[in-house]
Amino acid sequence: QRGRTFAMIKPDCYSHIGKIVDTIVTAGFRISHMKMAHFTIDDARQFYAEHQGKPFYNELVNFMASDVVVGMELIAENAVPRWRELMGPTNPNTARVDAPRSLRAVFGTEGSHNAVHGSDAPASATREINFFFGLQANPAVLNNC
Ligand code: CMP
Repeated sequence: QRGRTFAMIKPDCYSHIGKIVDTIVTAGFRISHMKMAHFTIDDARQFYAEHQGKPFYNELVNFMASDVVVGMELIAENAVPRWRELMGPTNPNTARVDAPRSLRAVFGTEGSHNAVHGSDAPASATREINFFFGLQANPAVLNNC
């Protein structure tokens, strides 16, 4: 039984989409679904509902609604932990020390601007995949291009 996870390229990495997708397939993941979206503030609040009340929540929500994101369903053995390993530690500055070849080390800047997201467990992956691929197209995507 192959597992799945939800991966997302954050708004700070629009210009690195090709390199990040290349890293994902080179690492042995299959991409079963992929879509661009532009979160509304409300979409971002819902997606990150578990972080409501944390000091970084509002900044995270505003950042995630600031530009286009790319969401992917990734398929592999142990997809959740393998994708988390490829991403590296949450904080890009920590990633540059502890996992210098990870995506967050290479493409992240700091704080919430950490290049990519990954589900923390199979149940989160199911919730996030259903949420993301169920979103209606947002006209903001067209307005921004
Ligand atoms: P992500 O994997 O998308 O899950 C929650 C996000 O919150 C995380 O990546 C970061 O973007 C952000 N985040 C978590 N902790 C902090 C923090 N201490 N400061 C700023 N942003 C954070």
